[in-house]
Amino acid sequence: PIRGVIFDLDGVLTDTAEYHYRSWQRLADEEELPFDRDANEALRGVSRRESLMLIVGDRTYSEAQLHEMMERKNGYYVELIQTVSPHDLLPGALTLLEELRQAGIKTAIGSASKNARPVVEKLGIADQVDAIADGYSVEHPKPAPDLFLFAAQELGLDPGECVVFEDAAAGVEAALAAGMWAVGLGPEERVGAAHVVLPSLADMHWSAVQERVQQASH
Ligand code: G6P
Ligand code: MG
Repeated sequence: PIRGVIFDLDGVLTDTAEYHYRSWQRLADEEELPFDRDANEALRGVSRRESLMLIVGDRTYSEAQLHEMMERKNGYYVELIQTVSPHDLLPGALTLLEELRQAGIKTAIGSASKNARPVVEKLGIADQVDAIADGYSVEHPKPAPDLFLFAAQELGLDPGECVVFEDAAAGVEAALAAGMWAVGLGPEERVGAAHVVLPSLADMHWSAVQERVQQASH
């Protein structure tokens, strides 16, 4: 049976994926590195360092330069999340969290972001989840399964009892590697590897999601 749900944060519960993109775009423009919204698709759910490596490509930078660029991007991002409020929860997110609590299903955040905790607090859902796994929790980022395994452990659940909601290919891969059920949010091209693919959380009730996941397991 399913006993827990782990939510990715950026692009799943709120649209901070857009803020990550704008921050990288600003940095790339300053550094005159080619980058656009299309190229950003590869960065979805990817750690800060790995994202920067994808942007710089085969250009050579010193560790100090890379570090400075990561700090600069993070500064832009932190600036953008200051105004995040409960209004920024994506449609369906709050209803689903409430339904899960009603159903006795445990919930966790599983985000690679070191900014996940402040974002969760600004969204006003810190008290609605049972655990938060973030960019400080494990060493190996998604697509490694470590972050989701850590979240399951925090909930006291086995991986097979958990469903993961993800908007990123790297995140779906991590959920599958962890032996969990994966629900992908977004286009097939991006999250098609998931057991269940949905356009978004809007109008999505837990009973329907559960049914879809159970069908996928037959
Ligand atoms: C999430 C986001 C990525 C971001 C990563 C690290 O996975 O989807 O876009 O690069 O977290 O976030 P951070 O806030 O620590 O730079
Ligand atoms: Mg995401």
